[in-house]
Amino acid sequence: MGCPVSVIMHTVHVDLAERSYPVYIGRDLFSDPQLLRQHVRGREVAIVSNVTVAPLYVPRLRAALGDGGRVTEIILPDGEQHKTLASFEHILERLLADRHSRSTTLIAVGGGVVGDITGFAAACYQRGVEFIQVPTTLLAQVDSSVGGKTAVNHALGKNMIGAFHQPRAVFIDTNSLHTLPARELSAGLAEVIKYGLICDADFYAWLLEAMPRLLGRDDSALAEAIERSCALKAQVVAADEREGGVRAILNLGHTFGHAIETAQGYGSWLHGEAVAVGMLLALRLSVARGWIAEDEVSRLAALLREARLPLDIPAGMTPAMFIDLMGRDKKVVDGRMRLVLLREIGDACIVDDVTGEELEGLLGAAQARAASPC
Ligand code: NAD
Ligand code: GLY
Repeated sequence: MGCPVSVIMHTVHVDLAERSYPVYIGRDLFSDPQLLRQHVRGREVAIVSNVTVAPLYVPRLRAALGDGGRVTEIILPDGEQHKTLASFEHILERLLADRHSRSTTLIAVGGGVVGDITGFAAACYQRGVEFIQVPTTLLAQVDSSVGGKTAVNHALGKNMIGAFHQPRAVFIDTNSLHTLPARELSAGLAEVIKYGLICDADFYAWLLEAMPRLLGRDDSALAEAIERSCALKAQVVAADEREGGVRAILNLGHTFGHAIETAQGYGSWLHGEAVAVGMLLALRLSVARGWIAEDEVSRLAALLREARLPLDIPAGMTPAMFIDLMGRDKKVVDGRMRLVLLREIGDACIVDDVTGEELEGLLGAAQARAASPC
């Protein structure tokens, strides 16, 4: 049996001068020796994956890399709770033990957790080596693998220790979504919906119609959703690589979401689930400011429900807990909380004037809804 033939369905370019790179979207991409070789410069490679993803996809990648060079496999435990300095240190120790030089390439094969830790290790090993993202969750394909944010968590805050370090290339294989658990697919759809809300009303309208095909894992619908999401993210990142300004719109719902993730313990709520609830809260706040029509709340709620995402905050989370955790977020600048709201669907803005009363009103109502869901 020969190698499957790779099919590139779309290529998105992330335009960052000397740090520019392609995002390939298609089928069987990382089994393609030629495509890989174009982006692995030296003869040393370290593949970083986890215990769940490695048996599914690492053998194909290894076969495509061939026997010509040195390949180290670093397999981490699975889960957000392992996105730690300890895992980061483990990667560095393996690279040192196997005498990887500055010309090594790290290849992250997995979801956002593996991608974020590997990227951070690549940013730090010998002051920076190259890395390639092979994202295997929808969330990682449309968000974390593109844009160069890398990090690990700390008990006192999520993604608090990290660096900006762009990959050399991103290989997105829609086949990998066929082994993804349904809950993880839904979590990725939250980030896809985010792009429509923040910068593309037509894409949002497309999602309202395409959701059944996406949930049915239709390859061409998934590839289209991934391509449109990555293209929107690439535009925002090209305009503001280090989040001095407009890039912050990519955090719609995230300040609320990070508070949920931190309060519940990393790994209990999925990132995308927390973001879904956060986006609905941000939309309600936009409605309360008179910017968005009331019926957009029910439209978004219906879309999130269809995507099998939660709508309510966790039972037991009080407004005071939210406000405390949100105040520790990275987006707080000079003591002012910055939130992403919507002026209209497809048009996000960043505000720093949300008052304590506004938040208490919003979160008090959310707590009441969570206590008596209809
Ligand atoms: P994840 O990496 O934990 O993956 C989810 C689960 O799916 C894991 O159990 C994983 O082993 C499994 N899995 C992955 N691919 C699979 C496949 N093809 N088949 C079967 N199982 C598979 O979670 P995630 O949602 O991909 O990423 C979340 C992380 O991404 C968070 O840590 C978040 O902070 C981070 N993130 C980073 C950025 C960024 O810009 N760097 C953006 C968004 C999110
Ligand atoms: N996920 C937000 C960003 O990449 O900026």
